[in-house]
Amino acid sequence: MAKTTVCAFAKRRDAGEKLVMITAGSAAESAAAYAAGIDLILVGDSLGMTMLGYDTTIPVTMEAMLHHAKAVRRGAPDAFVIFDMPFMSYHTGIDEALRNAGRALQEAGADAVKLEGGADPELIRRLVVSGIPVLGHLGLLPQSINTVGAYRVVGRGSAAAGKLIAEARAIETAGAFAVVLECVPAELGRRVTEALRIPTIGIGSGAECSGQVQVLYDTLGITAHTPKHAKRFGEIGEAMRSALAAYASEVKSGTFPAPENTFK
Ligand code: KIV
Repeated sequence: MAKTTVCAFAKRRDAGEKLVMITAGSAAESAAAYAAGIDLILVGDSLGMTMLGYDTTIPVTMEAMLHHAKAVRRGAPDAFVIFDMPFMSYHTGIDEALRNAGRALQEAGADAVKLEGGADPELIRRLVVSGIPVLGHLGLLPQSINTVGAYRVVGRGSAAAGKLIAEARAIETAGAFAVVLECVPAELGRRVTEALRIPTIGIGSGAECSGQVQVLYDTLGITAHTPKHAKRFGEIGEAMRSALAAYASEVKSGTFPAPENTFK
């Protein structure tokens, strides 16, 4: 499968092809996503919740993200991999943001970075002119949970919708190659998609976005709670529990290891 490049995304959107993105945090996950023909792999900081057991994405550090991103790259050497910049890795000045984003590409082999929020298009511009492709992220911003207070739909009402469309345009003008829209009303997802030349990648933002992104653990049915915007395409959590229960039971009963699992 040919590697998808930044240049191809807008063309594919214009051709009416939907882009498919999924999160991954390990080599096994990225290998499976790549083998499944998924276009873009996001090393999302949601791995702090799904893989590391935190309540929010706030405790996720640059070092943790690099560790997981390197594994993702090893599992899928030819995939288009996006590195989600974690909390406080791009807020303390442009130099620090450039240094951290540069590490994502140089140390982890990522193809691009993702930044939450539309308040600082100049930061996006500086990253892009430095050779770092940027995926924007608007709507629900999980890294702002402590200031907004709850995970909820963003952009209801004309003032909020207008602000979001203006931010999306500014992100596009700054040079982002695409923008994630998280939990915005479907009608607003459609309007933003129509207003931009770059693709929109929706999560909980309706079917009119140019593509969709989901969190792998929701999609596989590993997380106990399934958000409204997600669909369980498998029940891998249950499959894991029942395989492990069978293993435990066979060890206890003495039926595992059997002769075929034993060296003579
Ligand atoms: O971290 C993540 O998984 C994300 C997606 C929800 C877009 O940012």
